[in-house]
Amino acid sequence: MAAVSPQDTLDQGLRDIEDASSAERLEDVRRRYLGRKGEVTASLRGVSSLPAAERPDAGKAWNEVRRTLADALESRRAEFENGGRAADPGDEFDATLPGRRPSFGVPHILMRTLERMVDIFREMGFDVADGPEVETPHYNFEALNIPEGHPTRDEHDSFFVGPDHLLRTQMSPVQIHVMENQPPPVRVVSPGRVYRRDNFDASHSPFFFQMEGLEVGDDVTLGDLKGVLHVFVRRFFEEDLPIRFRGSYFPFTEPSLELDITCTVCGGSGCAVCKRTGWVEVLGCGMVHPNVLRGVGYDPDEVSGYAFGMGPDRLTMLRHRIPDIRHLYENDQRFLTQFQGAP
Ligand code: DAH
Repeated sequence: MAAVSPQDTLDQGLRDIEDASSAERLEDVRRRYLGRKGEVTASLRGVSSLPAAERPDAGKAWNEVRRTLADALESRRAEFENGGRAADPGDEFDATLPGRRPSFGVPHILMRTLERMVDIFREMGFDVADGPEVETPHYNFEALNIPEGHPTRDEHDSFFVGPDHLLRTQMSPVQIHVMENQPPPVRVVSPGRVYRRDNFDASHSPFFFQMEGLEVGDDVTLGDLKGVLHVFVRRFFEEDLPIRFRGSYFPFTEPSLELDITCTVCGGSGCAVCKRTGWVEVLGCGMVHPNVLRGVGYDPDEVSGYAFGMGPDRLTMLRHRIPDIRHLYENDQRFLTQFQGAP
């Protein structure tokens, strides 16, 4: 009996269990070790014929072998029942599982909307102009007829990045760069990111997009401005949405207007998005103020122009009925992939 050690039997038994290639082979292994005439059963029975002093240790050792082998047999049996997979699928690599497809990104709905907006203006003869995101107060404010102490400056709660520089709070400074660098006529749109010290909520974000537009030349009129914007709205929403202009105030335009469109969510009958008015404001605009023209060296007696600033975030939300601006900046794939293929 003492010829085989419990440890050797255990090692061999575990190897045999591991090597068993089917449930039937496994049953053979079980019988060989734990069956009525199995090795472990026989050894346990033999304990009683050992010298009394050896019996407790030997009994404990062989019982341990029996228990460990029984557990190993049980989990191997479960593997066969699982169709050959490990009982815990995390434990083993299974080459038979189908592969996972890598997910491809989709263009962000905001970027696609910006591209569409730019395309519409390109078709009407506008170029695209760019400018720096870090500006001086001169370009962000003073050159736009917003001197220090002007109340508008308080509305533009700015991020300063040093004593003399700030993140632009609006796209209007690009107007100034463009006019400083070329003589009239000018016809540009400038899409880009702007920054304000706002907290996130359903309709605010500390960064968002604006698209500035500017046309300056001989005899550019308010009628031209209204016509261009009406065409834009019709093309952008692909329907003849009723629009209206309201008088407003911006320091860099005179006169100044705001453009409202019929609420696309309720069709004008009143809802939470349009605050029950049926109208949603989508942009500010007006005739470029003579002070601004003079500041860049243009002669306001010779040329005139209009400017507008619209919110691509708001327009994207209205077109695709997105209720919360935060969706645009959280980059949740489940949200973004919904717009795959959307115009
Ligand atoms: N820059 C303005 C803002 O951020 C938007 C704006 C209004 C731009 C009227 C314009 C304009 O060019 O004419 O609130």
